Amino acid sequence: MSDFDLVIRNGTVATAADVSRCDIGVRDGKVAALAARLTGTREIDASGLLITPGGVDSHCHLDQPSGDGSRMADDFRTGTIAAACGGTTTVIPFAAQAKGQSLRAAVEDYHKRAAGKAVIDYAFHLIISDPNEQVLGQELPALLRDGYTSFKIYMTYDDLKLDDRQILDVLDFARREGAMAMIHAENTDCIAWLTEKLEAAGRTAPKYHATSRPAPVEREATHRAITLAELIDVPVLIVHVSSREAIEQIRWAQGRGLKIYAETCPQYLFLSEEDLDLPGFEGARCVCSPPPRGKANQPFVWQGLTGGVFQVFSSDHAPFRFDDPKGKRNAGTEAPFKAVPNGIPGIETRLPLLFSEGVMAGRLELGQFVALTATNPAKIYGLYPRKGTIAIGSDADLVLWDPARKLTLTNAMLHHNVDYTPYEGMTLTGWPKITLSRGEVVWNDGQVAAAPGRGRFLPCDLPKPAASRLGRGAYY
Ligand code: URP
Ligand code: ZN
Ligand code: ZN
Repeated sequence: MSDFDLVIRNGTVATAADVSRCDIGVRDGKVAALAARLTGTREIDASGLLITPGGVDSHCHLDQPSGDGSRMADDFRTGTIAAACGGTTTVIPFAAQAKGQSLRAAVEDYHKRAAGKAVIDYAFHLIISDPNEQVLGQELPALLRDGYTSFKIYMTYDDLKLDDRQILDVLDFARREGAMAMIHAENTDCIAWLTEKLEAAGRTAPKYHATSRPAPVEREATHRAITLAELIDVPVLIVHVSSREAIEQIRWAQGRGLKIYAETCPQYLFLSEEDLDLPGFEGARCVCSPPPRGKANQPFVWQGLTGGVFQVFSSDHAPFRFDDPKGKRNAGTEAPFKAVPNGIPGIETRLPLLFSEGVMAGRLELGQFVALTATNPAKIYGLYPRKGTIAIGSDADLVLWDPARKLTLTNAMLHHNVDYTPYEGMTLTGWPKITLSRGEVVWNDGQVAAAPGRGRFLPCDLPKPAASRLGRGAYY
């Protein structure tokens, strides 16, 4: 009888800490041994392949209801299939509270949307748009105990934004209970004012989306988010950071010992404002917030990744089809930029883009790649060490990379339900050959091998960083 259900032989195994040559023995869906010459009932020969922990995409939007009649293209089936094909084995999308809605009701609705569909494991962040007494006093504490331990709050978008006082209330809750707050940092009044001016001047094409949300708008809000977190003395994570100016604020705060975590996304490394400046409505494909910046901004985002300002590299997959009256054309092809649904797809391309242009291009160490894409998000959101690493007892969520494969990226090779990729035509080195989730092959050399519904909901622990507060005491 074999010792293991599955052995992956002869691979190079990389975690955030180490790279080693060993076999991986899997029993009951978990890593059971890391050693030489293991034998298993089934074996996969990983000679020439690099093995990393399955990616944890801790910021993606799947089948999230919207208030404007638009519809996300990916549900939990297509979104998680695409994720698995791109080497991601855990996703954390958002159960979003509409203003006036019970948070518990939003979570229940989101579970219904996920049921029977996911092919990989998933947890939920919450989006809090209405932090009233009932929500902060009753619903959130109970949800926290049930494994919803992180939430996103917005400083912009009319239907989601909180004012500073509300943000303080929410951060105060996060400190008390040890939850992790994620903040979308853009100054809403500046955006509204600039948008009005642009519209009055007839500047409504997609490219003006970027004009309406320039870097100072992100910088100011980032600084304010940092200040509010400092007042409460609570760790926060600033999501989808795009600009040099915002990065500088975060570096400054981290240098002062504040527990400010930060995330960036592929669009800020590989897209620029030029991608919004295309004829007619074409630029709508790349309308997302914050917007891609000038090309000269991209090296600063790379520096933020290599130099440790960023802990997390997520996709912010927000999938709207281009040629679709419920997608980017929701308000028509003449629609002003402010009516274009915000977001771009990237759940499948997140890891290959960073692997190719970061690791293979020599910008990023392999351990940094693993930390940014799997280990850190698992730690920050309370899923570690079950997810995010390759260690005895961890779920056998693994990606077997073919680091030698050269390819030209096309939307036709992707599995999301979106009719474009903003990265069409990029040449990449390396792609996931096999992805395993809890020891089961879900992506096998070009074939999707996973049944919808096999993915499990993951209740999250209280995030680890909450324990390491500054200890300087709050200001109240
Ligand atoms: O444009 C974006 N990023 N859309 C998704 C929603 C969000 O704010 O993350
Ligand atoms: Zn956001
Ligand atoms: Zn997002």
